[in-house]
Amino acid sequence: PKATSIKIRNGVANRGKRVKVSGWVHRLRVQGKNMTFIILRDGTGYLQCVLTDNLCQTYDALTLTLESTVTVYGVINELPAGKTAADNHELTVDYWECLGKAPGGEHAMSNKVNENSDPSVKYDLRHLVLREEKASNILKVRSEVMKAFRSYFDGEGYVEVTPPALVQTSVEGGSTLFELNYYNEKAYLTQSSQLYLETCLPSLGDVYCLVGSYRAEKSHTRRHLSEFTHCEAEMAFITFDDLLDRLEDMICGVIDSVLAHKQSADIVYKLNPNFKKPERPFLRMDYSDAIQYLKDNDIKKEDGTFYEFGEDIPEAPERAMTDKIGRPILLCRFPVEIKSFYMKRCPENLRLTESVDVLMPGVGEIVGGSMRISDLDELMAAYKRESLDPSPYYWFTDQRKYGTAEHGGFGLGLERYVAWLLNLHTVRDACLYPRFTGRAFP
Ligand code: 4AD
Ligand code: MG
Repeated sequence: PKATSIKIRNGVANRGKRVKVSGWVHRLRVQGKNMTFIILRDGTGYLQCVLTDNLCQTYDALTLTLESTVTVYGVINELPAGKTAADNHELTVDYWECLGKAPGGEHAMSNKVNENSDPSVKYDLRHLVLREEKASNILKVRSEVMKAFRSYFDGEGYVEVTPPALVQTSVEGGSTLFELNYYNEKAYLTQSSQLYLETCLPSLGDVYCLVGSYRAEKSHTRRHLSEFTHCEAEMAFITFDDLLDRLEDMICGVIDSVLAHKQSADIVYKLNPNFKKPERPFLRMDYSDAIQYLKDNDIKKEDGTFYEFGEDIPEAPERAMTDKIGRPILLCRFPVEIKSFYMKRCPENLRLTESVDVLMPGVGEIVGGSMRISDLDELMAAYKRESLDPSPYYWFTDQRKYGTAEHGGFGLGLERYVAWLLNLHTVRDACLYPRFTGRAFP
């Protein structure tokens, strides 16, 4: 009988019919002369296929290798109790062909890269590592997380925009700019799309984007990339408290939608068995309380002294504090001198800004956000304080001239969110092809 071509994920719905399935040989088990099992992988799932008698005695069968491509034909049947396979069923092959044979022996993929390989080998062979179950599971959850962010924003009436990656202004300071020659002028890869999102408010209302940001990070840490996916949003006519509420709402809303998706929920609990949805409200803590917390808990600098008000809290103490507290923290009101030029000051204390970092156990900072300066004179003073030439920012400055408004927003590092959700040791594993110090290949 004619076979229906199917993807593995639709196997259950097609049981009992003759089907045609194509994919890669994920596992191979030869059981005596008369039986060979193939676990076939097509990206949508895994399917156990059994070849018997003549079918497993051909030249192709006897020389079949892992990662070869094959097409199999036959009927999928539920397995009797006591036997296990993916989806609890198996395809009994009646005809098959090999489409492309992969190298075996010392050139086999599993010999070039495996669990015990050096990390640099894993990054060199990332194109092969992607085929492994864990790497593909992470990417599947990442896709669902991106969908969840979009559907959260769409549900709240935000418009998605696509700001440029090539820009001529810095947002987060000059030290991490990637500079390039742009028709004999200087240009940069954008560090954040925030300033562009701000220009959309009078046109589109609340907006968001999910695009790349680029930072020439010299430090080699497990949470810094040179290219990361930045989920940024900007909202008009809000207060600082509104901003905090919306952030919390978004982070929790996204978890709920990811967990509502069965395949993603299974992967989350497989990779992160102790995962618990964070309790609301998140702990809200001021920067000055964090400085005190570090002292009270004896968390010090390398030179043995304490962090003092006005100093940046680096990654290690930030994570030590977050892990000790053990729940998400909205860390608020950082001093002006350690934050970016565009941040609004706290009306009650002009040394502080209406700023927030969201800290998650295991990762630390996953979000940076703030209310923005809405007053033109204050903005001009801020450029001056940071020694920024205002001229390339003319379009940004115009926002304060043509109908200014209280507004604020945030940026969330997608890879850090995924690393937190799946308990990954490094954000690099949350990327398709991670870009970090010294690596722009493959
Ligand atoms: O705290 P950051 O630098 O804030 C901004 O860029 C703001 N302009 C965002 C805004 O308000 N629209 O970056 C925001 C987040 C960080 O909390 C972190 O999650 C992520 O972006 N991030 C990085 N992720 C990976 N590698 C890097 N080098 C990152 N730099 C920032
Ligand atoms: Mg930050």
